[in-house]
Amino acid sequence: MDEPLLLTPGPLTTSMSVKQAMLRDWGSRDVDFIELTRGICDDLLRMAGVDPKENKYACVPVQGSGTFAIEAAINTLVPPGGKLLVLINGAYGRRIVQICEYQGTAHDILEWEEDQPLSPQQLGAKLAGDPSITHVAAIHCETTSGILNPIAEIAETVKHHGRIFILDAMSSFGAIEIDAQALALAAIVASANKCIEGVPGVGFAIIETGKLEMAQGNSSSLSLDLHAQWIAFKKNGQWRFTPPTHVLAALAQAIEEHKAEGGVIGRGQRYTNNCDLLIAGMKKLGFVPLLDSELQAPIIVTFKTPGDPKFNFDDFYNALRRRGFAIYPGKLTRADSFRIGCIGRIDGDDITRAVNAVKETLNELGIENPGPG
Ligand SMILES: Cc1ncc(COP(=O)(O)O)c(C=O)c1O
Repeated sequence: MDEPLLLTPGPLTTSMSVKQAMLRDWGSRDVDFIELTRGICDDLLRMAGVDPKENKYACVPVQGSGTFAIEAAINTLVPPGGKLLVLINGAYGRRIVQICEYQGTAHDILEWEEDQPLSPQQLGAKLAGDPSITHVAAIHCETTSGILNPIAEIAETVKHHGRIFILDAMSSFGAIEIDAQALALAAIVASANKCIEGVPGVGFAIIETGKLEMAQGNSSSLSLDLHAQWIAFKKNGQWRFTPPTHVLAALAQAIEEHKAEGGVIGRGQRYTNNCDLLIAGMKKLGFVPLLDSELQAPIIVTFKTPGDPKFNFDDFYNALRRRGFAIYPGKLTRADSFRIGCIGRIDGDDITRAVNAVKETLNELGIENPGPG
């Protein structure tokens, strides 16, 4: 079968055993399936540094892609009289603004260039100047560029000013350590098919129990009400509406493989190795990454588009695709770029083969210098 390696931010290449875990049908009210969901939620809590037995946080899964889970968390946690400050340095911050606009959630923004990290100092000044802000939302790894935002400092600032912090950790959770309690996070939101290496179809929010208890009646959406979803799970362990059973079976298998690799640290090491090899190999060919190395998360790398007029992204993509690799277009608003992911079931050998394929592609397209114009 012609199945390319996905060097993308998701859906990703998954292991054969994760795919095979979907070969069984599950009854959603069956005790085995209830146990499967419970086990997944407990493991996701542990990934966030939380002991499930302490009940300080709850993991509330929700059907759909990552955006569904983000929208659900905001809809559930920001009450009608609240105001959300959205920190933006890329498309996923802007998406949270869109969610607020759809929902009619009062909000304000603080924005930085896409190649610059969020600034805790500017955040502190904003919070000091606007007591009406009740909640803050930020992106951990902004997948638009691949930048790693300084989440510990941002969390510290939010805590210092007594506000409630919602973290979009979609593309970092499972590969970069996030200690929910140490950072005093009200919610961490992520999905199955990024660093946990499950398949797409389910997201989840890890939410401080006290904040969930206060969230009854906040949601304007039936299916995205995480408070109601939580209450239902507490009552009988069941999903309120048809669960993505096969996706959850794959997620349970992916979590076992995550544990076997050494958890968040082990997974993060493989991705860091992938990222280092990718950047070194591409630089050797003449490509220029967007970000300074200290800002780069080991998740996805943005490269500046070559200035050679013979470079055309579609031709480049198709030539790489013929060689077995799917890359990703750029998403920056100001600069032309393309992206290559480091996550999913890929290792250093795969990255080396991908860089060789890029070299062959440059020869095929007649591009001698792929540096930006
Ligand atoms: C940081 C971040 N937030 C949100 C999303 C949205 O997730 P989805 O595309 O699964 O809805 C993504 C997807 O790549 C992401 O990287």
